[in-house]
Amino acid sequence: MSEKVYPVPASWKKTAYVDDAGYKKMYAESIKDPAKFWGKHAKRLDWFKVPKKVKNTTYAYPKVSIKWYEDGVLNVSYNCIDRHLKKRGDQVAIIWEGDDPYYDKKITYNELYEHVCRFANVLKKNGVKKGDCVTIYLPMIPEAAYAMLACARIGAVHSIVFGGFSPDSLASRINDANSKLIITADEGMRGGRKVPLKANCDDALKRCAGNEKVVVVRRTGGAVTMIPGRDLWYHDEAASVPADCKPEKMKAEDPLFILYTSGSTGKPKGVLHTTGGYLVYASMTHQYVFDYHDGDIYWCTADVGWVTGHSYIVYGPLANGATTLMFEGVPNYPTNSRFWEVIDKHKVNIFYTAPTAIRALMGAGEGAVAKTSRKSLRLLGSVGEPINPEAWEWYHRVVGDERCPIVDTWWQTETGGILITPLPGATKLKPGSATRPFFGIQPALVDDKGVILEGDTSGNLVILDSWPGQMRTVFGDHDRFVQTYFSTYKGMYFTGDGCRRDKDGYYWITGRVDDVINVSGHRLGTAEVESALVAHPKVSEAAVVGYPHDIKGQGIYCYVTLMAGEEGDDELRKDLVAHVRKEIGPLATPDKIQFAPGLPKTRSGKIMRRILRKIAEDDFAALGDTSTLADPSVVDDLIEKRQNKR
Ligand code: PRX
Repeated sequence: MSEKVYPVPASWKKTAYVDDAGYKKMYAESIKDPAKFWGKHAKRLDWFKVPKKVKNTTYAYPKVSIKWYEDGVLNVSYNCIDRHLKKRGDQVAIIWEGDDPYYDKKITYNELYEHVCRFANVLKKNGVKKGDCVTIYLPMIPEAAYAMLACARIGAVHSIVFGGFSPDSLASRINDANSKLIITADEGMRGGRKVPLKANCDDALKRCAGNEKVVVVRRTGGAVTMIPGRDLWYHDEAASVPADCKPEKMKAEDPLFILYTSGSTGKPKGVLHTTGGYLVYASMTHQYVFDYHDGDIYWCTADVGWVTGHSYIVYGPLANGATTLMFEGVPNYPTNSRFWEVIDKHKVNIFYTAPTAIRALMGAGEGAVAKTSRKSLRLLGSVGEPINPEAWEWYHRVVGDERCPIVDTWWQTETGGILITPLPGATKLKPGSATRPFFGIQPALVDDKGVILEGDTSGNLVILDSWPGQMRTVFGDHDRFVQTYFSTYKGMYFTGDGCRRDKDGYYWITGRVDDVINVSGHRLGTAEVESALVAHPKVSEAAVVGYPHDIKGQGIYCYVTLMAGEEGDDELRKDLVAHVRKEIGPLATPDKIQFAPGLPKTRSGKIMRRILRKIAEDDFAALGDTSTLADPSVVDDLIEKRQNKR
């Protein structure tokens, strides 16, 4: 933990929405009477019917039920577009920056309206109805935002699958959500390389019901196979439909989107977010956390395939009438100056990225940053994984020229929006700490028995009461929702994270305490990687753990037991890596593979992951008690053949 404290810059105290006293007052109000507080802040949206019933939630196990604004009626696309047209129809809504720096595009709110209406009509024309799920498998192009908003406009539920997922992963998400329409592109472009999205989609659909339609956006013009009757070009379809589409009246608790995310067990689950509460929370956090003011140019570098892209590229910023930048590329293409050049090119004021990108660019040296101006920057943000104090200091000193506060925002796919974060005009910063709860959020630390711990201490991070942006259920499996999040500590939402709270009440997230690993800010279940490995014909058993990785935060370390008679060599290692990439996608690429004739198991057959984690960390001096193992001698072999010797 870093002991340094950075005060709120004097200039911020004058212009920010809230100062420290303001934060304390608003926070107290939000906890004292949540219904009153969130009723008041619901007014930031335009409602067809203003809600009277604000909060109706219970965490009581097993009858967990979460409803916000349940008698309210609204439309998300109307709130993100139509209501801005009078005042800011000609203002830029989306700045698109291509993978190749030569290409960019500006889309005004008026243009956004037309694109979204046309896309909505294309969906309708192809049979999509209110409540249907549409799967979106697109690169970072404006059509991704149009597609999301088009679904919201007609009351369809979108499920975005990140372009880095394999055909297998795409197929299981299409099937789970029962999507009958898939939106994809011919190819994506990332770092100068093409991603064969349509070909992946063709492959995925071999594993689906067979009655799906595919709308294909032309991005690169690369050759693709179009199956008549199934595949349609977006540009043909869009030209044949009207440029107006009435927004559907949605109840606040109608589903808005599903987003699949990994947990410690089983298949990724469909996190379901609904309409009213989600949008109130996304828009309010976007305004306060980033201290967003009219006219600011705001850039979040995430992909819309992740929740950060949903809440803080599309829904939060557009609900606030912001100009949001959408970047197709990667931080180091064509050079390591790319982020900073884009900031100068578009005069970005607020910049929100992930620690893994900061660490990678830090490794490339200060020169790549120093040659750019970055004068437009006012605020920096971080999300996705713990930011180590060294990376924080570098981000502050080199990127922000010691002028820009950093908001280290902690949240999850499940939370819909940011829960623990500094507010730039209110919160003194400590490098590596996400600091204090946002309005309405009641974090607590509990021990392994669920006893709430007070004061300066460490424990498991739980949240004691609901907030409007919280997920409502796991799509199609409410019991899984209740068991996953509310059964470990009854009556509390368990985040899966470990955390420390210091004497000033600041929260320091230490990382997952379950079998979830965070690789470059991407969440993966160790069980997913294990089941991919055991699907290989030569593998009999596998155990996967995370280990500290300088750039990625965590790397993927696999212990693999082979079938009798098989030899483990570098050739097979390569084959296994390729196999996991094919099964899940490149984001699950194993970093280390250790062939292990035996795994450390208890007499009841449970793998002792604690030991495997220690060996992967190259920290086997403190293995703890191994006497309960069925065969303690396997440990010596594992240590001897460890792959991460330092
Ligand atoms: O472990 C925490 C980590 O990312 C997890 C959530 O991952 P995901 O649902 O993919 O959402 C990522 C973007 C919101 C959390 O359980 N995490 C996220 N932000 C932070 C973080 N860990 C530490 N500090 C953060 N700021």
